Amino acid sequence: MRVLVVGSGGREHALAWRLAQSPSVYELFAARGNSGTAGLGINLPLSETDFDGIVAVSTERSIDLVVVGPEVPLALGLSNRLDAGGIPAFGPSRAAAQLESSKSFARSVMDAAGVPGPNYRVFQNVAGALSYVQYHDAPVVVKADGLAAGKGVAMCANREDAQYAIRACMEERAFGDAGETVVIEDWLNGPEVSVFGFTDGENLSPVVAATDYKRIGEGGAGPNTGGMGSYGPPHCWSDELAETIREDFMLPVIRELARRGARYRGALYCGLMLTGAGPRVLEFNCRFGDPETQVIMPRLLSDPAEVMLACATGSLADVEPVLWSNRPAVAVVMVSNGYPGSYQTGYAISGLDDVVDADTLVFHAGARLDDDGETVLTAGGRVLACVGMGDTVQDARHLAYQRADRISFDGAYYRRDIAAEAVNVPVGVG
Ligand code: GLY
Repeated sequence: MRVLVVGSGGREHALAWRLAQSPSVYELFAARGNSGTAGLGINLPLSETDFDGIVAVSTERSIDLVVVGPEVPLALGLSNRLDAGGIPAFGPSRAAAQLESSKSFARSVMDAAGVPGPNYRVFQNVAGALSYVQYHDAPVVVKADGLAAGKGVAMCANREDAQYAIRACMEERAFGDAGETVVIEDWLNGPEVSVFGFTDGENLSPVVAATDYKRIGEGGAGPNTGGMGSYGPPHCWSDELAETIREDFMLPVIRELARRGARYRGALYCGLMLTGAGPRVLEFNCRFGDPETQVIMPRLLSDPAEVMLACATGSLADVEPVLWSNRPAVAVVMVSNGYPGSYQTGYAISGLDDVVDADTLVFHAGARLDDDGETVLTAGGRVLACVGMGDTVQDARHLAYQRADRISFDGAYYRRDIAAEAVNVPVGVG
């Protein structure tokens, strides 16, 4: 197969890396990719929303499968455009991607499918939303309905914070049209887990879980980021939980979408909180997570191209069951000084080839090749992820940090506590 990966982050490097190992793949392209994908295939100078360009290049280069990494092109209908051109696409249609692009749509699907989540209310006018929080116990979570580049969720400890978040969304239009509707949810407590499966809209593979770290600072201090690290399997995970989430949470949502005429083909991401009252869904996303993909792709034992093509063509039942390894993996994300605020780019990255152990990987994210075609330069906030794999989380963690400690660029920063809570507890499975 000739495979095109759409996107340019660490998730897409991890997907491309795993696809490049597939015996079914003989040529790999990325649009637009980064310095990591450049070492695996051909980077094409196309943005993820240049649908005309992506369809044209897929036709010209006889691409057999397009794997769409990020949510934005999916929400805008890239899979629909590829379908119309007869090009198999791994990633849901615009209608099915509403599971991520509209929080109120997702909640209505979950309600119809009987999937438990927090109590919530949807508001399309500011007065109603303000009045609700006035008479509702804090804390609450205020969510912009649409896509807001990961910034549309406000955790509000008191009424004032909730009112501020509602006004920012609905009056000041901080997220544009995405904040015209808000969903206000009860605040839940417990460990968070991201769960992923491959689906063709009817069948769902066995699922795999990972934990991510969202805050910039150790111990969860400071502002939210795109993700500072991840590990899996999470220590709070089990085979029983995996089966429950697959059978009672994810498959019912897939079936409800199909009932509504929106067949879901691609990676389904179920964001859970494990509360004292049982698992509750915080969100569904229409893609793999970042930086979770960096720890789940190394654990995928099956042929990724075969599985993704089967999802795209509605034939997942015809391929061998998807297998995941239980071997732990830990990813430590290195970021530019100042991130998630403003930061400088263009610094040379050294130590990328200092491989002390074969059980390590480096996935590039905000990184690009200099004009010499060799030097790798920082080009974003989240620059790269160092991954360690081992028989225990402790071993995997040690290797991830050993690799990170050998890489440097001006202003490099990474958290030191990724997967720390999972050391010395029994390894989760699934
Ligand atoms: N790691 C969270 C996300 O990908 O949305």
